[in-house]
Amino acid sequence: MIGRLNHVAIAVPDLAAATRVYKDTLGASVSAPLDQPAHGVTVVFVNLPNSKVELLGLLGDNSPVAKFLENNPNGGIHHICYEVPDIIAARDQLKKQGARVIGNGEPKIGAHGKPVLFLHPKDFCGTLVELEQA
Ligand code: CO
Repeated sequence: MIGRLNHVAIAVPDLAAATRVYKDTLGASVSAPLDQPAHGVTVVFVNLPNSKVELLGLLGDNSPVAKFLENNPNGGIHHICYEVPDIIAARDQLKKQGARVIGNGEPKIGAHGKPVLFLHPKDFCGTLVELEQA
C-alpha cells in the first residue's frame, strides 16, 4: 500500500535555530519558512536527494505541536509521511483493518497542496503516520 517516504517531520522549539543546524551544520538545502495557519505550524523544508525533512515550529495558540513540545522540550521526531496512490482507498482499507484515522477521517490539504490523513500512533508502532496522496 505505502510507497515512498515523503518526509520526516521534526517539531522544534526554535525554528530559526533548527534551520541553522540543517543549513549550516549539516549543509542541507533549506526553504524559507512557510506559515500554515490551517495546521498551526510554520514549516521549513529541508530538501534531501531522496526525501525531505520538515522542521515544524509553533504557529498560533492552538498548535497541534504545542503538547508535543511540552513533552519534548528539545524537539523530536513528530511524524513520518508515506505516499499512497489513492488516499481514500488507503483510508478505507486501513479502517477495515481496525486502524484509527485521526480527526473526522476526511483528508485535509497538507503542506504540499495534496490530500493528507494522519493515523493514530498507537496503531503504528508508537509513531504518528501521515499519508499523502502521491
Ligand atoms: Co507532514
